[in-house]
Amino acid sequence: MEQNKKVIFSGIQPSGNLTIGNYLGALKNWVKLQDEYDCYFCVVDLHAITVKQEPKNLRQRTLEVLAIYLASGIEPSKNTLFIQSHVHTHAEAAWLLNCFTYTGELSRMTQFKDKSRKYAETSVSAGLLNYPVLMAADILIYNADLVPVGQDQKQHLELTRDLAQRFNNLYSPTFKLPEPYIPETAAKVMDLQEPTKKMSKSSDNPNSYILIMDPPEVIRKKISRAVTDSLGIVKYNDEQPGVKNLISIISAITGLSVKEIEEKYEGKGYAEFKEDVAEIIINELEPIQKKVKELLDDKTYLQSVYKEGAQKALYVSNKMVRKMKKKIGFIPFEK
Ligand code: TYM
Repeated sequence: MEQNKKVIFSGIQPSGNLTIGNYLGALKNWVKLQDEYDCYFCVVDLHAITVKQEPKNLRQRTLEVLAIYLASGIEPSKNTLFIQSHVHTHAEAAWLLNCFTYTGELSRMTQFKDKSRKYAETSVSAGLLNYPVLMAADILIYNADLVPVGQDQKQHLELTRDLAQRFNNLYSPTFKLPEPYIPETAAKVMDLQEPTKKMSKSSDNPNSYILIMDPPEVIRKKISRAVTDSLGIVKYNDEQPGVKNLISIISAITGLSVKEIEEKYEGKGYAEFKEDVAEIIINELEPIQKKVKELLDDKTYLQSVYKEGAQKALYVSNKMVRKMKKKIGFIPFEK
């Protein structure tokens, strides 16, 4: 039966603590898609080392991200859950695809331009430049149909499609061209302090984001400090980016439409609105946090999940990598 299902691949980097941007832009949608698709959900640790990581933190976060996947409702019996560095085909395919990618394409990527500016003082790794190729490899070796991500990954998906097409044209049809799946609400959750910027786990200001693992009192404090405006009306429009962002968060969590939310807060001030935003986030996250803590106390279980996932992921992706190598002209190790 699984063979008839369309394939999904997606992943999150364990490069920082996950935010509600990661949760609403990606994870929450994965949960919705898991019954309909054959899903591969990966903790993309190879991506995380494109910027400096403390080994101890990386180990801790990698397991925490896996625990967050599970606690959010992604079921290991229905999906393939794994850690990227356990499946060597990702790095191997990335090298192959690197040789079909132009440096100009990579240096034009918005995320590369932003990040290389940020890390300019320390030095920018070649990994940071090549990172979208690894992402393309992640997706293409499973021949994924659909990639559920937030808005910020759209450009990387376009490159993935270009590379797939290029390889297909150069050799023969090999890859499907994957489609992005970007949610209607919360495709781009904004920074709470600078609501014209994307909320990011790598921000230096903790008040700018809500972490999935933030305790209730911290969430209340951060939302009460969220930047709004002096208009005092709860309305979804570009002139009020802070309020617009909070409305999107409510809508993505509760499923209420923007109109319903605006009506609910008609004639009410920001204080009451913000209190509700905080409680809605807390109600959503508290059960997840509890489950994450339980899972992190059961390392044996987590290990059983990622081991089984890696075995399946390796089996499936190896077939594609073998096919790629053969088409390129490498001599097969065995017939
Ligand atoms: P990463 O780790 O930065 O983010 C993980 C997912 O969260 C989404 N996201 C957001 N969505 C809405 N609002 C935000 N503020 C926000 N911040 C992050 C991202 O769009 C993403 O879906 N390159 C990827 C990881 C990756 C990947 C892949 C994804 C590696 N290989 C293959 C899909 C398929 C990244 O850095 O995501």
